[in-house]
Amino acid sequence: MRHKIRFFAFFLPLLLTACGEPADTHPGQPVTQRRMAFKEIINHFEPMGVQLRRGPFDATKFLTLARQLDQLKETPWSHFGADTNYPPTKAKAALWKEPEKFEASRQEFIKAVSALAVVAESGDKKQIATSYETLHETCRSCHEAFKE
Ligand code: HEC
Repeated sequence: MRHKIRFFAFFLPLLLTACGEPADTHPGQPVTQRRMAFKEIINHFEPMGVQLRRGPFDATKFLTLARQLDQLKETPWSHFGADTNYPPTKAKAALWKEPEKFEASRQEFIKAVSALAVVAESGDKKQIATSYETLHETCRSCHEAFKE
């Protein structure tokens, strides 16, 4: 018993990351992988929003970002396999209980990303802003239902 306590006292700090979250020790680190994929998505999504809200709006740069986002749209999903509901995930239990709803939400997102990449070709800021907002709404509604 003593040995066990010592073991945990020693290793527990190593299992916590800098921000105090439990480390992802699962094979292939699916939670870490999908979070990295979402980060990469927001790293492309956010600068487009900045262009639209604050400017300057650069149609060429915007199109590049929209196309890059289109390449990223499938990246998180393969990491939501069975047995991937474990800390430090921020996914809600609903995600595992209502897979059809999650899938529908995912499809909305995929469709909206593709649509934005097409509309971005027009260079028409007003149309692009509408399409961007549609996409933004798919992030929001999925997060509301499935992310803490
Ligand atoms: C179909 C559902 C769904 C859609 C659509 C979606 N997300 Fe998420 N997102 C999630 C879930 C679930 C998590 C939590 C993953 C985890 O912690 O295991 C997440 C996590 C994130 C994170 C946190 C990553 C981290 O470091 O923990 C960011 C940032 C993010 N999403 C951005 C976006 C953006 C931006 C969009 C839209 C362009 C978007 N997401 C669309 C479901 C979705």
